[in-house]
Amino acid sequence: MRIFLDTANVIDVEDRLITKVISGVTTNPTLIRKNGEDPDVVYKKMMDTEIEDLSIEVKGDIADDLIANGIIYNRQFGQKATIKLPCTPHGIRACKILTSLNIRTNMTLVFSVEQAILCSLANATYVSPFVGRLDDIGEDGIALIADIAEVFCHNRSNTKILAASIRDPLKVGLAFAAGADICTLPPVVFDDMFKHQLTDAGLKQFAVDFGINV
Ligand code: G3P
Repeated sequence: MRIFLDTANVIDVEDRLITKVISGVTTNPTLIRKNGEDPDVVYKKMMDTEIEDLSIEVKGDIADDLIANGIIYNRQFGQKATIKLPCTPHGIRACKILTSLNIRTNMTLVFSVEQAILCSLANATYVSPFVGRLDDIGEDGIALIADIAEVFCHNRSNTKILAASIRDPLKVGLAFAAGADICTLPPVVFDDMFKHQLTDAGLKQFAVDFGINV
């Protein structure tokens, strides 16, 4: 069970690394654009933190370009770089080749068990089902995690399930219960995981009993 942060904001990552429970970061072109910085500057700053696993989406429509760009990031950042690829025929081919070169891969925008099977056959390190976006169209994102987990378990797949597009802390527990190996979370969802009204009330009472003015 691992938690990644889903953000291109380095300060957001650094602020939460003190908890020591975050082991990776996922980025995508939309998060990078929102952040307003050059992608390579963001990646370099992220790599200078203690994060061990950074998912970097590579440009390209054809496998050769995806592979070449993946190799460039691997040469630049070594084992910390995970190459994020689309679940297209060219993305799947690139995945198989990059994995054979010992480069970690994250297959993104996965919305079906069939797509997840293709990713597993391409020896992807991670497959990323998008829970929230499936819920948006009236489907059940958590049920997809459960279905992929069942297929991967039966077939002894080495591909890890990285639940993405998680917008609510309750979905974190549900995703792990359904068989996710990793959840990638917007920083605010990670912060919300700490919150419970009974924790607040209990801490307030302890502070009173310690003789601290609250
Ligand atoms: O990890 C994928 C994530 O960034 C997409 O989230 O909320 O845009 O569906 P969302």
